[in-house]
Amino acid sequence: MRMNGNAIVGQSGGPTAVINSSLVGVYKTARDLGAPTVYGMLNGVQGLLSERYVDLSNHIQSDLDIELLKRTPSSFLGSCRFKLPEPELGNEVFEKIFEILKKLDIRYFFYIGGNDSMDTIKKLSDYAELIHSSIRFMGVPKTIDNDLDVTDHTPGFGSAAKYIASITKEIIRDGLVYDIDSVTIIEIMGRNAGWLAGAAALAKGEDCEGPDLIFLPEVEFDMELFMDKVRELQKTKKSVVIAVSEGIRLADGRYVAELGADLGREDAFGHKILTGAATYLSREIGRQIGCKSRAIEFNTLQRCASHIVSRVDITEAFQVGGAAVKAAMEGQTGKMVTLKRVSDDPYICVTDTFDVHKIANVEKKVPREWINESGDYVTEAFEHYVRPLIQAELTPMMVDGLPRHLTLRDKAHKN
Ligand code: F6P
Repeated sequence: MRMNGNAIVGQSGGPTAVINSSLVGVYKTARDLGAPTVYGMLNGVQGLLSERYVDLSNHIQSDLDIELLKRTPSSFLGSCRFKLPEPELGNEVFEKIFEILKKLDIRYFFYIGGNDSMDTIKKLSDYAELIHSSIRFMGVPKTIDNDLDVTDHTPGFGSAAKYIASITKEIIRDGLVYDIDSVTIIEIMGRNAGWLAGAAALAKGEDCEGPDLIFLPEVEFDMELFMDKVRELQKTKKSVVIAVSEGIRLADGRYVAELGADLGREDAFGHKILTGAATYLSREIGRQIGCKSRAIEFNTLQRCASHIVSRVDITEAFQVGGAAVKAAMEGQTGKMVTLKRVSDDPYICVTDTFDVHKIANVEKKVPREWINESGDYVTEAFEHYVRPLIQAELTPMMVDGLPRHLTLRDKAHKN
């Protein structure tokens, strides 16, 4: 079977260290299966609406480019946080998009993203049905947050988890140098799901105690209890290291991050930039306990650290891209590719597809039974689930002492 028309691919939402491996998976598989042209939307559907796209073959020209792109962090094509309206006949946004797709003779549409981006695939495939269009729309999973439903995990999570666990180990060692009391609060991304924060537990091993406490958004955060726990730990150790998710909330629903500063504007999906929880907690420790305290925000570092990607993750990122193309070629639409774990030891995961309507806009949280009873650490079952996802490495291509990346050949926004 061959592809009988052009394909277009876009990247959407927050980037990851391996999102371009999925882009390569889509591009290479589509070309291998005969797609005459594979276009890339610049800045997702938002860019497509202003006819900003490129012919990817002008930008990925050799096997070396493919290898470099796999190792290039962040979204090669740029991204967006753009919410489509509800699909209705006569809606001008959809009319515009489908007019552009027709002009480019697109038969296959791929969107690499998380739960908000799957909303785009859902709406586009619904609109296609309304107008009896034969274009196939497929979602390719991606998010460091690991909060997409149905799939065992999401590409991007394993590499972010590997970075978090590695850097947490280094921070714990750094904290041991002085003979004074200190508390270090590490802030980890993940919005309303604690998968990434929990990954800090993987720092624990023969050579490292791991963080002392881990707070996830799935459990209400109690300020007084937190201070008591810190004081208790300080009775037996000088350096205390605590991991908190950016999305931890108080019983009244407020984010801890909001206590220290105004979080400002919301994006199109109603999300605020959740930074500041660690800074707030660290200041409170200084104020209430009086010891040395430091806040470390991993911030965007945890999602663009391509120098320490997980080989399992980058390989799966490629596979989900390829699987989306094959599924679309076979006639599937309105679906997202999922990863199904077949076995833990040896770790084996295969791809499948699932109705995107049941995945879009849903946030998958860490199950309560994978968090300890006191709500301040993850369980062994959690660690057992994450550990296979951080295994092995893919070394960067080093040029002049630094990792080399692939960038768009020219910054022209059209072909
Ligand atoms: O969606 C992934 C993510 O990295 C979240 O962990 C984080 O809260 C959010 O994106 C940040 O979004 P932005 O890059 O739009 O500031």
